[in-house]
Amino acid sequence: MLRLLDAHPGEALHTRVARSLRDAVTRGLIPDGTRLPGHRPLAARLGVSRNTVVDALTQLQSEGYLGVRGRSGTVIRVPGPAAPPPDAAAPPLSAWATRVLRGQPGLPAGGYAVDFRVGQDVPELYPEAAWTHALAHRAGEAGQRAGRHADPLGPLETRRAVAAYLNAERGARVTPDMVMLTAGTQAALDALARVFLEAGRGAVVEAPTYAGARAALAATGAGVWSVPVDESGLQTDALPDADATVVYVTPGCQYPTTATLPAPRRHALITWARRRGALILEDDYAADLHHTGRAPAVLQGLAPERTVLLGTFSKVLAPATRSGFLAAPREVIRILAATRTLTDRGPGTLDALALGDVLASGAYTRHLRRSRPIIRHRHEVLLAALADHLPQWSARPASAGLHVYVPLPPGWRAAAVTGHAASHGVALTPLEPLTGGGHGPAVLLAFAHLPIDALRDGVQRLGVALRSPPA
Ligand SMILES: Cc1ncc(COP(=O)(O)O)c(C=O)c1O
Repeated sequence: MLRLLDAHPGEALHTRVARSLRDAVTRGLIPDGTRLPGHRPLAARLGVSRNTVVDALTQLQSEGYLGVRGRSGTVIRVPGPAAPPPDAAAPPLSAWATRVLRGQPGLPAGGYAVDFRVGQDVPELYPEAAWTHALAHRAGEAGQRAGRHADPLGPLETRRAVAAYLNAERGARVTPDMVMLTAGTQAALDALARVFLEAGRGAVVEAPTYAGARAALAATGAGVWSVPVDESGLQTDALPDADATVVYVTPGCQYPTTATLPAPRRHALITWARRRGALILEDDYAADLHHTGRAPAVLQGLAPERTVLLGTFSKVLAPATRSGFLAAPREVIRILAATRTLTDRGPGTLDALALGDVLASGAYTRHLRRSRPIIRHRHEVLLAALADHLPQWSARPASAGLHVYVPLPPGWRAAAVTGHAASHGVALTPLEPLTGGGHGPAVLLAFAHLPIDALRDGVQRLGVALRSPPA
């Protein structure tokens, strides 16, 4: 009836005895009220010492598996039904989880000779030494501060550094009390979506757009309007004649078409948002990744009272630390800080302090000065190779970012192109339905993570695979 279960690595013997007895009880092998033998006989049966049995029974007693009945001594107490009912169903999912899972893409398969898909790490371009130095430098202080509750917005010195960077480099109008550190843009969107959206409300996105943003907004049950983009980004004259709570945009480098929103459209968007009472969520994901001249200033600088600026360091600094920020009107910050007490309660102190140092010390700027020419060169090589091998494709030079957008010529379909490319060892990202429709067939080619030889080899393979439109 009772046997010792196999040991888990590192498990103490009395814990193993307790687990074995608990397992027998919960599986219904020992009925409620069964009298336990004395310590010595039980120890002998299990081949352990009496003290081990005493320790195990003390633990089970505290958990409620043992009781005392009259003079019969210690008896087993079965805390619930002996075994789960055979048809016990898993708890039902929430409407939120169901919506999220419905939009979830399948797991990407690997094994390509050249992988142009977007969303790849570029480890050789991360400032590992500067980041490691900042972590080491701040470790002692973070250790001391770990004993106290932290500010849900993040350490003030880091928010100062973020505000200074935004004002100097991005043309923003931000003070440190308008900044909240986040675990990246996806986390920021999730927090904003939960605060401002629900079924019966509306959000506006660009079409096509960043699938992660659209999914986060739609997961709340809100209706999502898709407004088409052209070569100049969001077509502001197509904004809906209806109230919306938020409008998510990528004016600096439209995702995924890479267009830059010109000034007249920026002002038209702000006017529309003011009239409709909508908050503008400006995703500045390609902020420091422009390929020519200076990056356009953020829209936030034109309407700080209406805009939440979303920034991420996932692409250029340290993706796995999940470091990002948002800069928002103070009233929005107050609500986000208050509601954060029910989610992650704030960023981790060490990473946040290190981020502040990397920004304030100039290491971030120096890192960009080194990495941007490498990225720019890879961009040029990719475009030149595409012009050589696929002249019928009109790949668009990207103003910024880590990928090139290729609208496919008439008669071409993204899924067929991706399939043919895969059969020649090349992976591409097709534009998916989740991006909001309203666009012709197109594929994306990420380039910054690939060495020059791989870029050329990949495009040559594509040329062979796609001389003519695939059936
Ligand atoms: C347009 C855009 N916004 C936001 C993100 C997400 O950034 P994070 O990693 O900070 O969640 C990405 C990531 O690929 C992106 O492409």
